[in-house]
Amino acid sequence: MPRSPSGLPAPAPEALAASERLRAQICAEAERGPLSFARFMALALYAPGLGYYAGGSRKFGEAGDFVTAPEISPLFAWCLARQSADILAQLGGGEILEFGAGTGALMIEMLRELERLDALPARYLILEVSAELAERQRMRVLSEAPHLAPRVAWLTQLPAAFEGVVIANEVLDAMPVQRFRLGDGDVEELRVACTADGFVWQACPAEARLAERVRSLARACGFDAPYESEVGFAAEDWLRTLADVLHRGVALLVDYGFPEREFYHSQRRSGTLMCHYRHRAHADPFFAVGLQDITAHVDFTAMAEAAHAAGLDVLGFSNQASFLMGAGLMEFLASPLEPRAQLERAAAVHKLTLPSEMGELFKVLAVGRGVDGPLSGFRLRDDRARL
Ligand SMILES: C[S@@+](CC[C@H](N)C(=O)[O-])C[C@H]1O[C@@H](n2cnc3c(N)ncnc32)[C@H](O)[C@@H]1O
Repeated sequence: MPRSPSGLPAPAPEALAASERLRAQICAEAERGPLSFARFMALALYAPGLGYYAGGSRKFGEAGDFVTAPEISPLFAWCLARQSADILAQLGGGEILEFGAGTGALMIEMLRELERLDALPARYLILEVSAELAERQRMRVLSEAPHLAPRVAWLTQLPAAFEGVVIANEVLDAMPVQRFRLGDGDVEELRVACTADGFVWQACPAEARLAERVRSLARACGFDAPYESEVGFAAEDWLRTLADVLHRGVALLVDYGFPEREFYHSQRRSGTLMCHYRHRAHADPFFAVGLQDITAHVDFTAMAEAAHAAGLDVLGFSNQASFLMGAGLMEFLASPLEPRAQLERAAAVHKLTLPSEMGELFKVLAVGRGVDGPLSGFRLRDDRARL
């Protein structure tokens, strides 16, 4: 039985058995030495057949572990569709490429709105690391919008070249991070070891890339020992790879996170790791491995710097509320609805835009190449100066 942070519901026996198989696999690998947390997180989320995103658990929605913006309301997708249509018009064409498409909710509603705007791209591509989710997306478009299905194609790797709009909603937070500790001595990496009682943290000397980054962050952000947090090299490397293939177009990266100075604020002394299990958020990544989501907030300054270093322009940065309103959210609210639907829509708008909900913590970063005009999503607010 996994150690349970207080109050979490116990997993079912068959789920526990799968978790135990993944634990054994991770421990076999850790026999050669403690694993970096990034490796542990990669296995916990993506180990074939057993990782959280690679296994069969429900994940999204009421019966799952968390709810994302496209699941709350189609309004989110419709705003992204409008922004995408503007970009495709500026480019004179192009395709859409969505990373990590979850249940397919964003894809379906974006395509519907693009159809209404008479701006459908020839292809809507999806790059999904989870075979199980890719299958769910395929079934969904076939059953809910079969006439749009021929436009949707699934990729197993990045195309050699891409022109158009790239969308990644809540994908960066699911990319593996390394954990560090700044103590009295040098920078340490917090690695993961196996014991008879379960996984434990083990402090090891940090390798050069991590140690240099932490020292530079400590100088720039003014934190001192004792201090623990994360660095998301995998997300930065991912953005560099994307930059290589994005010949013309814009990547819209939506996620929860902060500019660097807020992320590494001297009072945020234990980082941003967050786990989601049946709609409870907690901070123990070692609970029920493979059965819960593990995430870290996004350092948007690091993402913007990685994009800039790879030759992309940083085109806009704002919170989700301002982006959605800039992209046309209020125009969708003008259409009359039945009273009940009107109430539901109002509740969704609150959830997506209120600062106490997703409006402020969630940010949108736009990076791209060959797009000169301003992007409508940032016309009300553009916080690039805060990055
Ligand atoms: C929290 S879910 C978000 C799903 C969906 N975008 C949504 O908003 O509902 C994270 C998704 O990111 C995907 N993912 C993580 N790393 C990825 C990568 N390198 N390439 C493509 N998808 C990735 C996962 O498989 C999963 O579908």
